[in-house]
Order: sequence, then structure tokens, then C-alpha cells
Amino acid sequence: MVAISPRKAASVHSPVLTDEVVERLAVERGGRYIDCTLGAGGHARLILEAGAPGAMLLGIDADPHAVALARDNLKSFDGDVHLVNANFRDLEKTARERTFVPVHGVLFDLGISSMQLAEHGRGFSFQSEAALDMRFSPEQELTAADIINGYDESEIANLIWEYGEERFSRRIAKAIVRARPLQTTTALAAVIAKAVPGRGKINPATRTFQALRIAVNDELRTLESALEQARRILGPGGRLVVISFHSLEDRIVKQFLQRESRDCICPPETPLCICEHQATLRIITRRPITPTREEQSTNPRSRSAKLRAAERIGEDD
Ligand SMILES: C[S@@+](CC[C@H](N)C(=O)[O-])C[C@H]1O[C@@H](n2cnc3c(N)ncnc32)[C@H](O)[C@@H]1O
Repeated sequence: MVAISPRKAASVHSPVLTDEVVERLAVERGGRYIDCTLGAGGHARLILEAGAPGAMLLGIDADPHAVALARDNLKSFDGDVHLVNANFRDLEKTARERTFVPVHGVLFDLGISSMQLAEHGRGFSFQSEAALDMRFSPEQELTAADIINGYDESEIANLIWEYGEERFSRRIAKAIVRARPLQTTTALAAVIAKAVPGRGKINPATRTFQALRIAVNDELRTLESALEQARRILGPGGRLVVISFHSLEDRIVKQFLQRESRDCICPPETPLCICEHQATLRIITRRPITPTREEQSTNPRSRSAKLRAAERIGEDD
């Protein structure tokens, strides 16, 4: 059992778009659901409540601390909950091993939780001093320090540009390489602050920290693979719901749903269809759902949330 620090337990994570998640998942009594990003179990609890009696939930999180916390928060549901410390890049395997295929609904609430952001020593936040770690799971090898102190200047610049959409990526990379070795979040944030001209609305380290977290956890490739696995394990009529928090994630989700809801994915100039692709999803959110103003003011973390959902059509392949 992993010990939960008092600080972590104190910084409660408020799940976002809660009614929308339950509604778009079309949670039904006795249904089987997979929460791929369990966190503290906030969404999981709502799914179990909406599907009572008899709903079953498989909760997955790469972070053993999150699984321990959710286990505690969901103990009243006992036999209906299966919690697994795993990466959702192994979603299909994890679901099959627990006979959760075919499944009625799959949820992704991407990114990090408030506990992870606040937890000392994880290195996700530039606001408190910690080692440059940023791994969701202690079993992963690559840390943010490995990237910052080991990659070439051009590799660092490309990564900050691509995953952080940071226009000062080259200046930041140059400053990082000059200041190496860098061991802590606050030291890195100070180097970035000096490298970036002027003062914007957000902290100058925000985009670089996002980029490092995405790279450390290989978040975008993992998401692409997991969406495809989710599509495969959904039963007919099953629902896929994804909440993303930045444009790179949302683009992947949007393009995946568009592709999988089309019968032909040949390039437009192809005169006759040669791809033989068949739609397996029906998009049920024409535009992404975003939090109300009220939710945004009570839960500022929800501000950038975008929810997209689709329903599985046809037979399993
Ligand atoms: C925003 S939080 C989820 C919060 C949760 N919905 C709740 O209500 O408490 C995202 C969680 O996803 C986990 N996570 C992110 N990427 C993951 C991955 N590839 N595999 C498994 N878990 C992942 C993180 O460790 C984090 O706990």
C-alpha cells in the first residue's frame, strides 16, 4: 500500500463536467464502465452511483498514489470496483484480463490531478521546489531531468515548440543548455523567466512545463493508441467520452472521432474509394462540450476542459 501524504490528501481533486460525463456515457444500471484516468475516483463514484444497482467499474491509473487514494474513496462500492495500477496504453489487455470486454463505456479525463500538481516531489509544478521528475508512474525510466540535462539544444527546442506550442522555444532551449545542469523545478522556471521577453498573461514556464510532462509520459502517442483500443473494446451502442485540457490532445481526439465516424478515409482527390474503411463510431458531440461559467468560477482547473463523445456502431471487429 502506498502512503498518501497529508498534503496530497488535503488537495482534493474536483472532477470536471460531472453531469455531462454521466449523461454522455449514458450510464445504465448494471452496465460495465472503464475509467482510464481514475485519479481520486471522483468520476468513478458518479458512474457507480448512476449505474446502481449492479454497475461495474474498472478504474485504471498509472500513478500508484492515485489508485491508493481512489481505493479508499470508493471502498463503499466494494465488489463492483476493480482498480488497477497500469498505463492506459495497455487498455485492451487490462480490460480483457478483467473480462471488461465488450464494455458499455470508456472515460478518459486526461492530464494531471490537483493532488499530483500539489504533491511535493513530483515536479509537475513550477511553483514549488522539487526535483525535475514529472513521471506519472515511478516505474517509468525517463524523467524531466534526463531531458533537460541530456538532450541536445535542438531536441529541447523542438520538444518545447511541438508539445508546448511555445514561440520562444529556441531562446528557452539555449538558456537551458547554458545553465545546465539544472536539478529543480524552480531553477528551471527561473531560467525560462529570464529567457522569455516581457510579461504575458500566463507564467512564462507554463508551456515548457506542459511540453516536458507530455514528453516524459509520451502522452500524445499513448492517447492515440488508447483511443483506438477503446474503440475496439466498446460493445455496439457503447460510449467513448474524452475530456482534454489542451489543443494538442483535443486535436487528436477530434481527428480520431472524425476518421472513425467516416466510411471512407481516402484522400479527397481519390476518384474511387480504395480504403474500404467503415465507420465504427457516431459522434454525439457536434461541438466539444465546455464547462459553464459557474463551473469555471468554482473550479478554475475546468477552464480549458473540452469533452467529446461518440457511440460505437456496428458489430465488434
Ligand atoms: C485529471 S486526473 C483524473 C481525475 C479523475 N477523473 C477524478 O475524478 O478524480 C488524470 C489522471 O490520469 C492519470 N493518467 C494520465 N495519463 C495516464 C496513462 N497514460 N495511463 C494511466 N493513467 C494516466 C493521472 O495519473 C491522473 O491521476
